[in-house]
Amino acid sequence: MDESIGGVPVRELAATYGTPLHIIDTDELGLEVDRFERAFGGRGITVGYAAKAFLCIGLVEFIAQTKLRLDVCSLGELLTAERGGMPAQRIYFHGCGKTDLELAAIVERRVAFDVIDNAEELERLAFLAAGGPPVDVMLRINTGIEAHTHEYVRTGGENTKFGIAAADVLNTFGVLAARPQLRLIGLHSHIGSGIIDAPPFVDNLGLLVEWADAARAQGHPVTQLIAGGGMGIEATPADARALDLDVLAAELAARVAGTPYRVAIEPGRALIARAGSTLYGVVAVKRQGRRRFVIVDGGMADNPRPALYGAHHHLDVVDSAAIEPAHPATLCGRSCENDRLGDVMVPGDLRAGDLVALRTTGAYTYSMASNYNRFGRPPVVFAANGSHRRVVRGERPEDVLRNDLG
Ligand code: LLP
Repeated sequence: MDESIGGVPVRELAATYGTPLHIIDTDELGLEVDRFERAFGGRGITVGYAAKAFLCIGLVEFIAQTKLRLDVCSLGELLTAERGGMPAQRIYFHGCGKTDLELAAIVERRVAFDVIDNAEELERLAFLAAGGPPVDVMLRINTGIEAHTHEYVRTGGENTKFGIAAADVLNTFGVLAARPQLRLIGLHSHIGSGIIDAPPFVDNLGLLVEWADAARAQGHPVTQLIAGGGMGIEATPADARALDLDVLAAELAARVAGTPYRVAIEPGRALIARAGSTLYGVVAVKRQGRRRFVIVDGGMADNPRPALYGAHHHLDVVDSAAIEPAHPATLCGRSCENDRLGDVMVPGDLRAGDLVALRTTGAYTYSMASNYNRFGRPPVVFAANGSHRRVVRGERPEDVLRNDLG
């Protein structure tokens, strides 16, 4: 592999912070943000970042300097956004099970608007907002389109818990009309994750346009349509880009040309996955029969994606004597179960003490990490332009115990 990340030698990062180590190359992230801004912003499409992919105060500080807005789905994400200096007007709230405290934060204008997921949420928010100035809301609609890769289907929406069912949308517009404390400014639909083709996004937006026309016919001031996130990425850093942003942006823009609507998107993965790497130290290489196992000093606690989804992360071996990686091996973590991180190819001389990196771990890796086996989460470091800084401390064993009462 290129033995540096953000211009910093990988060995230096490991020597400074130890392993496992979660690294975000903020040069790479900045380039990705620019790509999105050029393709989408340039066509009048607003880009938001889905905080669930990865968030910490340092990242919010970075995002606050860009034009991105931020989608949050918990008080934890909201507080992080606030501590990182993100203005409330650029934050909005998602989620299908918001707590009373979260709804109160919305009414207190700690975000620009709420994306209402269900009828119960609508009534709870209306109750909290009664008597005050109107709270801006969007409705999440289940358009019935469901997509994960380039395949997509119209399921009638029966396979997802999210959003207002198509059969209930008109009625919900009617309910909102009778709740003047809520102002319907837009519609939203997110149809899946890891989508590598434009058509499902465009068809989904087309359905939102139809619903928006129906809302406006009832007098609602709908002007904004959020076409979700879900843009996929390629499997390995060497592959061609999975989704042509220019094509997608042009087709979305064309779909709303001549309508009163402004479009927005809210990717998580496609903005940050490529910028992330996780560095591990090899602790053992062993053979069991014909199979070679490489055990590293992290695993499913810091990256549950391979175990949960069978997700693939490309492995790079850092500076072994580096004969070509020609030997098949099973990469494992140190959890007390068969926590496969992937089937990989490694050099024959790989041994304990070598460094390896899993790539494209910027999204849904640190944010989904746990303390399984009472392991501490790794530190997070930003590397760019040859320098590096820690933005999240690693958890020591004492930190893992911090909530125990005994
Ligand atoms: N908007 C909404 C309403 C979402 O639920 C999500 C992701 C996004 C935007 C961003 O989607 P993205 O662009 O990142 O695909 N843990 C899984 C991914 C779960 C996605 C959940 N929702 C994984 O590790 O692959």
